[in-house]
Parts: sequence; structure tokens; C-alpha cells
Amino acid sequence: MSAVSAVPPAPRQVGWLDLAAVIRLNRLCFPDPYSVSRFAGFLLTPRCYILAVGPASDLRGYVVVSHQTCPAPPRLVAEVTSIATHPDARRQGVARLLLNEVCQREAAAGIGQLYLQVAVSNLAAQTLYASLGFVRDRRLPKYYQSGEDAWLMVRALEPETRPD
Ligand SMILES: CC(C)(COP(=O)(O)OP(=O)(O)OC[C@H]1O[C@@H](n2cnc3c(N)ncnc32)[C@H](O)[C@@H]1OP(=O)(O)O)[C@@H](O)C(=O)NCCC(=O)NCCS
Repeated sequence: MSAVSAVPPAPRQVGWLDLAAVIRLNRLCFPDPYSVSRFAGFLLTPRCYILAVGPASDLRGYVVVSHQTCPAPPRLVAEVTSIATHPDARRQGVARLLLNEVCQREAAAGIGQLYLQVAVSNLAAQTLYASLGFVRDRRLPKYYQSGEDAWLMVRALEPETRPD
């Protein structure tokens, strides 16, 4: 990774040309990374998208967002499916920038709720999410392959939501 400037560049939408860089960062950041086909599926799924900070040659972070239909009352909600920041670019506001952009996009699209799952041991990510208004909804026993539990965290989105 090149020398990092103080202000991260604005998030941009990832397409096929940049997908390999996102997959590399996912592998660098997680012990149980997603497969190439899963990432390809994100780009092929309607309403699913990937945002990134930095060019493919110097990718600082990414977030994958997908959507689910909740049955009662019937509504579409958004999920932060994966988010990571390059180890050399952490604590510089990259993840906050990505999540604020997601909140703004989803609120503008009329989505009322954003949710995610986070390992109970991942205090860095939980601190990040709490700082952005996510609250714990419930504990998901043995959510991960390792057997670890997850917290389901949710944030309500209002039409007037603006970046923090
Ligand atoms: C969690 C992660 C995405 C945070 O990315 P980041 O770009 O470093 O986060 P930011 O710089 O935007 O941090 C914003 C706020 O989150 C909190 N935070 C982030 N990292 C933290 C840490 N290691 N310890 C405590 N708080 C932390 C802080 O409140 C921080 O604000 P501050 O720096 O002004 O104190 C990053 O550590 C990462 O990629 N981890 C590995 C992958 C992962 O765990 N992803 C989440 C899976 S649910």
C-alpha cells in the first residue's frame, strides 16, 4: 500500500474490473474469506453492490451491501454483508466513510433499516457500529463456522439521514 493521505478518497462503486482487488483485501482481512463465486454473485444480484475507497492498486477498504425482504410487515431491509479496511489504513475513518455512504444511499432509496452480524469477540467492529448508531438486537448462537456467536446489530434509517 502506498503512503496514505489524511483524508480518504470518496467511496466509489466497484465493478468487475476492480473485483480482484476486493477479493484480495477480503482474504487479507478474514480467516474465512468468501469464494470468488460468492463475490461474483454480489455483482450479479439486483440491488446488491460493493463500494470501495481507493483505486484497485491501493484499495483501502470495501463494503458489500445486499437486501432482504422481511415478512412482517413486508419490507425491504439492507444488510452490510462484509466490510473491511486494509490493515495499513485502519483508524483513518475509511469504514466510517463507507458506512455513512451506505446509510445515505439506502435512506435515499427509502430503505428503513440497515443490519449486520458481528462476532461477539470483534470489539473493534462493534465500537465502530455503535459509534454510527447501530444497536444490538439479539445474540445469534454459533453463527460462525468456528462456533462463535454473533451480535445482530441494527440501525434505523430515516429519509432525512445524512452522513455523520
Ligand atoms: C472493523 C474495521 C472495518 C474498522 O475499520 P477502520 O477503517 O479502521 O475504522 P474507522 O477508522 O472508520 O473507525 C471509526 C471508529 O470505529 C471505532 N474503531 C475502529 N477500529 C477500532 C479499534 N481497533 N478499536 C476500538 N475502536 C475502533 C472507533 O470509534 C473509530 O473512531 P476513532 O478512530 O475516531 O476513535 C477494521 O478494523 C477491519 O477491517 N477489521 C477486520 C475485518 C472486520 O472485522 N470487519 C468487520 C466484520 S463484522
